[in-house]
Amino acid sequence: MKTLKNVKDHFEEEAKEYDELILKLIPKYNEMIESLINSIPFEDSKTIEVLDLGCGTGNITSAVKKRYSHAKITCIDLAEQMINITKFKLSKYNDIKYLLGDLREIPFGADYDLIISSLALHHLQTDQEKISIYHKIYDSLKEGGAFYNADNILASSEYLENVNMKQWKDFMRKTISNKEIEEKWLPTYYEEDYPAPLIKHVDWLREVGFKNVDVTWKYINGAVFGGIK
Ligand SMILES: C[S@@+](CC[C@H](N)C(=O)[O-])C[C@H]1O[C@@H](n2cnc3c(N)ncnc32)[C@H](O)[C@@H]1O
Repeated sequence: MKTLKNVKDHFEEEAKEYDELILKLIPKYNEMIESLINSIPFEDSKTIEVLDLGCGTGNITSAVKKRYSHAKITCIDLAEQMINITKFKLSKYNDIKYLLGDLREIPFGADYDLIISSLALHHLQTDQEKISIYHKIYDSLKEGGAFYNADNILASSEYLENVNMKQWKDFMRKTISNKEIEEKWLPTYYEEDYPAPLIKHVDWLREVGFKNVDVTWKYINGAVFGGIK
């Protein structure tokens, strides 16, 4: 098991190539982000207060800004190099705030209309950490606020998980050599990623108090899911 320091170091190192790499590693990454944006229930003209957890190089913040030009967004990430790329890519906006640190420890503040996250929360190592973050997210939303997470998930049986793993490897093989997949990306996945079954996420969100909990997109080992406070 690697520590969060390893996750931080990995993303500090990978920041420059991240946007190219993520398209090779995550099946239908752009479609997943589009589905997350389509799940947001507010009028496009609304000035929404948004929190992006594990913003990375700012891809979902950027997509939110394209739909909600008045959105005020706070981006949190552990890796300074990732945040720096977001700052550079989104430098034309003056209503984005950046917080460097661990999302488990940083106080989020309150009264957000929308909290979003993409491919970040599966780095939390235990079920309890994931449930605690869901409580923290719920407490930081306004009544009627929305939370959507686009993330890496597990299937609910060994058989279905094996099907997912086969399909994921087939997807990566289109652009990455088998050697690199076996020697680099699968070991990284097993050491740094702690996805939970999608069905557990749905149960946890309901238990925390979210309403209208739903899965708005799913493909192989990725899903978009969330609910309304
Ligand atoms: C795979 S990237 C996803 C980036 C972006 N959201 C996207 O969809 O492209 C995961 C990001 O989550 C960040 N991260 C992981 N664990 C974190 C934590 N505990 N606190 C803050 N950021 C974290 C990493 O530094 C990295 O930038």
